[in-house]
Amino acid sequence: MCGIVGYTGSRQSSRILLEGLKRLEYRGYDSAGIAVISPEKKISRYRCRGRIANLERLIEGEHPEGNTAVGHTRWATHGRPSDENAHPHTDCSGQIVVVHNGIIENYLRLKKELSSAGHRFTSDTDTEVIAHLVEDELNGEVSLAEAVRSALKKLQGSYALGVISSSEPGRIIAARKDSPLIIGLGEDGNFLASDVPAVLPYTREFIFLEDGDKAVIESGSVTVSGADGAETERKPLTVSWDPVMAEKQGYRHFMLKEIYEQQRAIQETVMGSLVRDTGKVIFEDFNMEPAAIRKIKKIFLIGCGTAYHACLVGKFLLEDFLKIPCEVDIASEFRYRQPPIDSETLVMAVSQSGETADTLAALREASSRGAFTAAVCNVLGSTMTREAGGVIYTHAGPEIGVASTKAFTSQLTAFYLLTLHLGIIRGMLDEKKALEISEALIHLPNKVKHILDTQNETIKEIAHRYFKKKNFLYLGRNINYPIALEGALKLKEISYIHAEGYPAGEMKHGPIALIDGEVPVVVIATRSCVYEKVLSNIEEVRARDASVIALASEGDSTVSELAEDIIYIPETMEIFTPLLNTVPLQLLAYHTARLLGCDIDQPRNLAKSVTVE
Ligand code: F6R
Repeated sequence: MCGIVGYTGSRQSSRILLEGLKRLEYRGYDSAGIAVISPEKKISRYRCRGRIANLERLIEGEHPEGNTAVGHTRWATHGRPSDENAHPHTDCSGQIVVVHNGIIENYLRLKKELSSAGHRFTSDTDTEVIAHLVEDELNGEVSLAEAVRSALKKLQGSYALGVISSSEPGRIIAARKDSPLIIGLGEDGNFLASDVPAVLPYTREFIFLEDGDKAVIESGSVTVSGADGAETERKPLTVSWDPVMAEKQGYRHFMLKEIYEQQRAIQETVMGSLVRDTGKVIFEDFNMEPAAIRKIKKIFLIGCGTAYHACLVGKFLLEDFLKIPCEVDIASEFRYRQPPIDSETLVMAVSQSGETADTLAALREASSRGAFTAAVCNVLGSTMTREAGGVIYTHAGPEIGVASTKAFTSQLTAFYLLTLHLGIIRGMLDEKKALEISEALIHLPNKVKHILDTQNETIKEIAHRYFKKKNFLYLGRNINYPIALEGALKLKEISYIHAEGYPAGEMKHGPIALIDGEVPVVVIATRSCVYEKVLSNIEEVRARDASVIALASEGDSTVSELAEDIIYIPETMEIFTPLLNTVPLQLLAYHTARLLGCDIDQPRNLAKSVTVE
């Protein structure tokens, strides 16, 4: 997904921008570029297809001087990935420069009108129309900020925007609508970025722009005006992530680092809210009064991809402990159906980034229809956290690898906490049960560490045996069925091997036709209420010559007799097995992708934050 970085201040801007763009690489991109205003008020622009390293080579030797600049990583939506379509884009004179995330929906009509009026276009992008619209407005009598404001009135769609002009060096104009944008406040200058890690080495103080906001950023000042055009105060927030947290710390890939960070991520998510002595949970930002909690008649859980799988686990927990009917929806589907929703419905959007367009739209739809809405989110200040009625924060820290790992297990942790919270308030969990659950929850991080310490080498060997296979099947039942889906998703995302997740009992209704000696079958067979059933499913698979890779509880000798390969999971309460079972499946996907030489942190065609529908 596209990324934006901008800087204006007393330092040389090109180095800051290149570093910032590198820190945005995780979002996924196909081209990159920067534009710098020189001391002579000239614009130098560099753009190219491919990696930031290509851009660095392009700039090498030129050392463009200048203290104000904007840069961009592009993930193509309009026009193929190419040098010409890479941002920044300019007007006819080359003096007005625009970087943009989002989609301008009426760009074709605008482009036609601007072309007939004599504007020359040099790219296929929707973004370029913005530069020409600003050019039309900037007639010597109005400021760049005013020209941008007038141009924006003609746009339909979404944007996070950075605009600079050689006529006003030392100034960046920013604007946001339905696409995230932040301003970093530094000692010797200020920053513009689409997300926090881009400028973390320089500041931890951020203004999170709201929809409709426009800002004028100068070296020593930031002025924000709201959707109504009036100047407004946006309080800066201090972000606790440090830059080192956002780097690889010696791991070969961000994904592996993040798999190993799960012990800490789960611990911090738990400790952020759990009162150990009572098993009670305090969600500071959930904002739902006990009286309203007691009235909930129905819950919807909404997310995309991995977050959707977390919702599926959440449904088991909430229905089991609270006896409230709970539906799970893929966000892009929820938007376009009309389930009955009222003020006694709780709709929860689950999202690592808090910016996923489909989830955000579903959240808006739910709140417009009168539900109480809440977000389970990892990114402070993100759009969902600002728009939802309440928020439960996961404390996974920045997740850079495109494939979600620690965010997922932190989302599961949030569901455990939510179950405790709602269960206690609704009188469905007495103190004894709440304490039993919370004690087991507190021990989960160490069990995650135990799996990482004891099973990684075994999993590596398993990956060696099977990495050349073309198809995998993942089976699980009951609360571990979503983990079969998640295991399969991880493998396909990063290794490009076709993998299907299935409820084990459903296998005989179709997918069993695919099974032969060439299809390894990963079976989640840890102890549970469906353990015996899963053993029968393993027998069905073995009878078709498939190799079984089983996840089994430590000390289980039955499964080891049935499976070719076995990964052991420490004992825990059944409700926590999804979280523990996830970890080895992440490692299996990781080691397989590594053996295949895949681009693990930035898999092809994928983006970290999907901010378009
Ligand atoms: C899978 C993955 C995606 C995301 C999905 C939602 O590994 O990362 O499926 O889970 O795009 O993203 P968020 O959680 O940011 O809403």
